[in-house]
Amino acid sequence: MQFAKRLEKIPPYLFAEINRKRDELVARGVDIINLGVGDPDKPTPTHIVQAMHEAIDDPSTHNYPPYQGTKDYLKAAAEWMERRFGVTDLNPATEVVSSVGSKEAIHNTFLAFVEPGDYTLIPDPGYPVYRTSTIFAGGEAYTMPLRREYGFLPDLDAIPQEVARKAKLLWINYPNNPTGAVATLEFFEELVAYCQHYDILLCHDHAYAEMAYDGYKPPSVLQVQGAKDVAIEFHSLSKSYNMTGWRVGFVVGNAQAIKGLSQVKTNIDSGVFKAIQRAAIAGFQTTDEQLQQIMSVYQKRRDIIVEGLKSLGWPMEAPKATLYIWAPVPQGYSCNDFVNLLLDKCGIIVPPGNGYGANGEGFFRIALTIADERMQEAIQRMRDAGIRYEG
Ligand SMILES: Cc1ncc(COP(=O)(O)O)c(C=O)c1O
Repeated sequence: MQFAKRLEKIPPYLFAEINRKRDELVARGVDIINLGVGDPDKPTPTHIVQAMHEAIDDPSTHNYPPYQGTKDYLKAAAEWMERRFGVTDLNPATEVVSSVGSKEAIHNTFLAFVEPGDYTLIPDPGYPVYRTSTIFAGGEAYTMPLRREYGFLPDLDAIPQEVARKAKLLWINYPNNPTGAVATLEFFEELVAYCQHYDILLCHDHAYAEMAYDGYKPPSVLQVQGAKDVAIEFHSLSKSYNMTGWRVGFVVGNAQAIKGLSQVKTNIDSGVFKAIQRAAIAGFQTTDEQLQQIMSVYQKRRDIIVEGLKSLGWPMEAPKATLYIWAPVPQGYSCNDFVNLLLDKCGIIVPPGNGYGANGEGFFRIALTIADERMQEAIQRMRDAGIRYEG
């Protein structure tokens, strides 16, 4: 049996080599601390689980859902956008579509808009799906380096004009995985103007819209005047409400883009289980206090890691958002060398920065998804092994 050629072009899975080493160490009885995976460890809030119990007992939720999403779900998503971001003019019937988490919708957007030979503008480092889905669609990925000196924002002036003219999609993601960076509304304005100029669909992956600390509230790109002419935004309940396994989200914005995406989806998936859509509506009704409770868990862990790394010489600032700490590797190490050192000497798993793109070289990522004590222990193991940051 032969795989399709396109599968040969997909880069190796980021965690494959790390997992192989992990299995070896586990077999030798090593107690591994896994700081790799961005999968919340806490349960889904009770009010959402309760809504699911009630919904699943109602047989009318058991058959195929409407492709685009139930009317109630689309309306609730639009209302949430209004409450959360003050975006008031969304038509649930034409400007919102439900999605199976956000990964599916991200991928299908490439299928809807990218022809062989078209460019996509993607961040590097970045969520790996932007690159692999470009390959699946037969496009050419042009990477926009995210550099620390630019606050991990892309430099639009550095994109060659001939590339911009052939680009169909420009992807951004703030709060950002893996760097933890955030963007201002002013930066979103620049992006909207750029995409209007070059007729590019601006795709904002807002998976971490609610994962923010110290009172910070990440903006929506749709708050920019005229954004709906060129932009769509991907939302997911996965991270905000500890719902990664539920697979529910929505895409919102430009009606023509939503139409194209919906056309692909109608032919591929058959929507989100109606009971899950009802539970997600309860998710949209999460109060500020409930959300704060979820986020305070991560904020505390963020502080443990940031303070811990600082005590080992790392030059760190606490990120305002996301589930991640993006830290430089000490001088003299490649990111792969340093990640292997952490695994071999301390039994700690972290992904190397270059797993998110070539510009991630020199960094590693820590996910805040394990218990406080294990995070403290990770720092202690580094201290005991004599690992320090030398710049
Ligand atoms: C930046 C980003 N976008 C999208 C996703 C996909 O999440 P989901 O499909 O669970 O909504 C992730 C998951 O890690 C992510 O980090």
